[in-house]
Amino acid sequence: MGKPKIYITRKIPEHLLSPFNDRYEINMWKDEKTPIPEEILFERVKEADGLLCLLTEKIDRKFIEHASHLKIIANMAVGYDNIDVAAAKNKKIIVTNTPDVLTETTADLTFALLMATARRLIEATNTIYHDEWGDWSPFMLAGTDIHHKTIGIVGMGRIGEAVARRAKGFQMNVLYHNRTRNIHAERQLQATYVSFDKLLEESDFVVSLVPLTEETTNLFNQNAFQKMKESGIFINVSRGGVVDEDALTEALKQKTIRAAGLDVFKNEPINSAQPLTKLKNAVLLPHIGSASVTTRENMLTLCLENIDLVFQGKTAKTPVY
Ligand code: DGY
Repeated sequence: MGKPKIYITRKIPEHLLSPFNDRYEINMWKDEKTPIPEEILFERVKEADGLLCLLTEKIDRKFIEHASHLKIIANMAVGYDNIDVAAAKNKKIIVTNTPDVLTETTADLTFALLMATARRLIEATNTIYHDEWGDWSPFMLAGTDIHHKTIGIVGMGRIGEAVARRAKGFQMNVLYHNRTRNIHAERQLQATYVSFDKLLEESDFVVSLVPLTEETTNLFNQNAFQKMKESGIFINVSRGGVVDEDALTEALKQKTIRAAGLDVFKNEPINSAQPLTKLKNAVLLPHIGSASVTTRENMLTLCLENIDLVFQGKTAKTPVY
């Protein structure tokens, strides 16, 4: 029997592959920056026993039926809404994701985005780049305080807890809403469980960390933005699909809420044609939540370790079911 065949949908650094090279026949897409076209991936995956893919790949039922040799799909992300997990399960294909290794890095970015939005950092930087910095004045670029305010975290999982830990350092009051109560966060971080509506009504910062599912699609809609305080700030670092972007754009335009900081969008990548880019009270990032070199390397290594464990007949470290 030959070595198991692994296909990787993006070019990744050779040094990460070297521990696995002698045990597997590894092939990968030639480019680091652009996703593999769907039809080429279809062709390449036909013979593959294992797949390492990114959130840019749509691994749906049709794909899964077609890739008939696959034993494992290792997704380089904690979110796995790009994969039809039920279809994979049905074919007894193991699906893994990358929790834990990105928790602190993503929480850092969440907090950075929250601070940049509250203190209008991008707008402020732009006054210099666009030669608009006039005389210093009392309310020039005055934003809103972060310390001692109320943060409402929707989705109190690992990243939610890591954000709450940072919030405690700013003496913030922490509210949260989650499908199930998180007793650990309540005891260790004095986080208070509240209903979704109460969280929207009482928080100065509403932070979305919920995974994208059928139930959370467009969770943050016109109704939700109307319930938020007029001075409230909305932050999204989970998935764009949880937000009705038209409703958010309108809320920002009408100043129903003060500002929003977004790292994720419904149809990524976005560009300057997206209406949100026209708004000064929106801070937009290109999905960089977990983007530190160390964390991205750790995510890829975890994917490779999961694949390796499965081919050794062992349990993957981070299976999603
Ligand atoms: C994830 O892991 O789901 C992130 O969105 C990618 O950094």
